[in-house]
Amino acid sequence: MGSSSSPFKADVLKGKVALVTGGGSGIGFEISTQLGSHGAAVAIMGRRRRVLDDAVADLRSKGIMAIGLEGDVRKKDDAAKALETTVKHFGKLDILVNGAAGNFLVSPEDLSPNGFRTVLDIDSVGTYTMCHEALKYLKKGGIGNDSSTGGLIVNISATLHYTAAWYQIHVSAAKAAVDSITRSLALEWGTDYEIRVNGIAPGPIGDTPGMRKLVPEEANNKTREYMPLYKLGERWDIAMAALYLASDAGKYVNGHTMVVDGGLWLSRPRH
Ligand code: HXC
Repeated sequence: MGSSSSPFKADVLKGKVALVTGGGSGIGFEISTQLGSHGAAVAIMGRRRRVLDDAVADLRSKGIMAIGLEGDVRKKDDAAKALETTVKHFGKLDILVNGAAGNFLVSPEDLSPNGFRTVLDIDSVGTYTMCHEALKYLKKGGIGNDSSTGGLIVNISATLHYTAAWYQIHVSAAKAAVDSITRSLALEWGTDYEIRVNGIAPGPIGDTPGMRKLVPEEANNKTREYMPLYKLGERWDIAMAALYLASDAGKYVNGHTMVVDGGLWLSRPRH
């Protein structure tokens, strides 16, 4: 099955509203596309107006109801405004996808505490801020919520911190915190507000800014040699995991971070 077809029914998210941070490019954009192609109205949030405009035009050309919201997840006011605008425009919020992330390769010797903090601010604090500001809309009986249950949060994570990864001390720490936030909110908000909180940990996914930035071509080829499924993932693979979680198929899944990497994190090179 390729990226053009989906095993899910086209109306599986009909009537739902999603906000995707980092939704203008890479994995976030594919998640926005697939949520939209399966019936959801989609708001995408990002820092770059032009990227957002292009992404919204692309989504609308596919018949998806979409808006672009300029903002930085590090700023509480931007987060609150993006959520408020989404609910004003589409009437409610069912799904929050936290896809915004910062990344660069650097050794600990060369990474200043401020560089470390910057990535934690985007990935970890940004995720928490979006969740915190979204609670009043996502909770059962919350503003605009017409469902018999609470909404869904999906936090995009990574597998770097399951072991250790060179030149990624900042991102590993940030994503470890994201996974912990996923579990804590799943426990507390699942119990109190019937909100499900899950994560997706992608492996190396082709055709993404992260991959272009972090994995040089030669390393990319080397990676393929010891990957159990012998290929890079597609953005589509991650979007399908998001669809599973967002559809009723995932209604009993809470507090879980789903690894979607072909089993790569388990593997070592053959000798
Ligand atoms: C060392 C760096 C650096 C670099 C920034 N810093 N880039 N240090 N090497 N390459 C340091 C700066 O020196 C500064 O510290 C601090 O970080 C803040 O830098 P700013 O440039 O002021 O930050 P800002 O403009 O806010 O930019 C944030 C950013 C940005 C993260 C640095 O580059 C960014 O958002 N990049 C794009 C995001 C991206 O690539 N997303 C895809 C993610 S993929 P000092 O001490 O000098 O003040 C992904 C996958 C993970 O997440 C899993 C992979 C398998």
